[in-house]
Amino acid sequence: MEPKNLWGGRFKEKTDPEFAQFNNSFRFDQRLFRADVIASIAYGHALENAGVLSNAEAQAIQDGLNLILKNGTEDPKYFADSNAEDVHSFVEGKLVDLAGDAGRKLHTGRSRNDQVATDFRLWIRDAIDSLTETVASTQLALLTFAESNQSVVIPGYTHLQRAQPVMLAHWSLAYFEMLARDRDRLRDARNRVNVLPLGSGALSGNSFQIDRETIARELGFDEVSLNSLDAVSDRDFCIEFVSACSLLMVHLSRVAEDIILYASTEFGFFELSDAVATGSSLMPQKKNPDSMELVRGKSGRVFGDLLSLLTVMKGLPLAYNKDMQEDKEAVFDAYDTTSACLKITTTVLSGITVDEKRIHHAATTGYMNATEIADYLVRKGMPFREAHEVVGRVVMRALELNVELDRIELQELRSISALFGEDVYAGLSLQSTVSAKNVIGGTSPEQVKIALARARERL
Ligand code: ARG
Repeated sequence: MEPKNLWGGRFKEKTDPEFAQFNNSFRFDQRLFRADVIASIAYGHALENAGVLSNAEAQAIQDGLNLILKNGTEDPKYFADSNAEDVHSFVEGKLVDLAGDAGRKLHTGRSRNDQVATDFRLWIRDAIDSLTETVASTQLALLTFAESNQSVVIPGYTHLQRAQPVMLAHWSLAYFEMLARDRDRLRDARNRVNVLPLGSGALSGNSFQIDRETIARELGFDEVSLNSLDAVSDRDFCIEFVSACSLLMVHLSRVAEDIILYASTEFGFFELSDAVATGSSLMPQKKNPDSMELVRGKSGRVFGDLLSLLTVMKGLPLAYNKDMQEDKEAVFDAYDTTSACLKITTTVLSGITVDEKRIHHAATTGYMNATEIADYLVRKGMPFREAHEVVGRVVMRALELNVELDRIELQELRSISALFGEDVYAGLSLQSTVSAKNVIGGTSPEQVKIALARARERL
C-alpha cells in the first residue's frame, strides 16, 4: 500500500508535486532505516510498560518491526518505488500494513522531532565506532611503514627548506599522533552523542508517563536529555562529529601533501605503487599521485559539510525547524568521504617504495648539521647567540668553497673561531646529528624506537 502522509487531516488541497519532491527526504534519510526501526521497537516497549498498548498490540508491533527490519536488510528492492515522505513515514506505513490498528498506535506521544533526533544519534554513534576502527587501520599502516624503514633518515623541513634531519619513522609517527588525537576527539564527541532525546515529543515532552530511562538502557544510551526544547532542536552532535571529521581530513590532507611532494621527481624519496597512481592520456611517461591529490581535495568537501551545518543552525528559533532536515546529507557525506579517504591513505601507505639512496643524498647535503656546530661551540663555553653568528660565517665560507660543513678544513674553521678542534667532525655525521636529539619526543633512533613500541601498545 502507498504510505499516506502522516499529517493530511487538516488539509483540503493536495500537495504540489514539485514541493513534495522538494520536501521529501526519503531518498537520503533511508540510511536511518535500521536506527528508526530499533528506536521504534524500544518506544513500543515503553508504551506497553506505560499501559498505552496491550500486550497483544505491543507484540504485534514488535513482530511487525522485526519483519520490516529483516525485509529492509535482506531485500535491496524493499525501498525502491516508495513515495514515502521520509524514513519515519516509510517504517510506519509498512507497520500499519502488517499490524493494522496496533501500528497506528505506535506514534502515541511521539513526534518525528524526537524520533529523528534519536535515530540520528543512533546512526552517528555507529558511524563514530566504525570510523574509529578505520582510523586505527590507518595508524597501523603508518606504524608499519615506520617500523619497516627504521634506519632511514630524511631531511626535515621548515618553510619547505631543509632544516634538520629526522628519522623517516619519526615523520610517520607524527601523523600517527595526529590520528591518535582524532580518535580521542571522536570518543569525546561520542559521549555527547549518546544521550536519548526520545520522550521529548514535538517540543514539550511526553504525556503518557513513558519511562525514558528504560528506553535509554534498551538503546544503549548513557543518559537521557534533560530539556525537551533543547533535545529536539539540538544538532551540536552533528556539528561535533563533522568537526572531528574535518580535523581528521586536515591531517589526511597534510600527509597526502607530504607524500605528493616526496613522490615528485624533484624530491624522489617515494614511489607510489601502480595500484594507486594513474597515467596521463597524453604524456606517456606520467605517473600521477591522484589518490593522494583526491584525499587532499576531498578535505574541502568535508569542511563544506561543516560550514553548511553551522550555517543551517545559527539562526534557528527554538525548537524544531525543517531547516534541520538539511543536517543528514552533510553528515552522511562527511562520514562517507572521511572513511573513503582513510582507506585510500592506508592503501597508499602500504605500497610506498622508499628510495634510500635519494633520501640519503638529500639528508647529507644542504648544511642541515649547522646547528650541531653551534651546539659544539656552546659545549666549549660560547654563548649560543655568538655561536649562531660564528656558524653563520662557517656556512658562508662553505658556500664560497662549495663544500658541505664536514668537508671544511680545520684551519678554515679555526680562522673563524679558535674554539674549533679536531673533535668537531665527529658530531657532524648524519647519524650523530639525529642521535643528538635524545629527549622524549625527539628524533634520535633510541627515542624513535621507544616511540614505536609505545605506538604499538596504544593501538
Ligand atoms: N525528515 C525530518 C527531518 O529530518 C523529520 C522530522 C520532521 N518533523 C516535522 N515536524 N516535520 O528533520
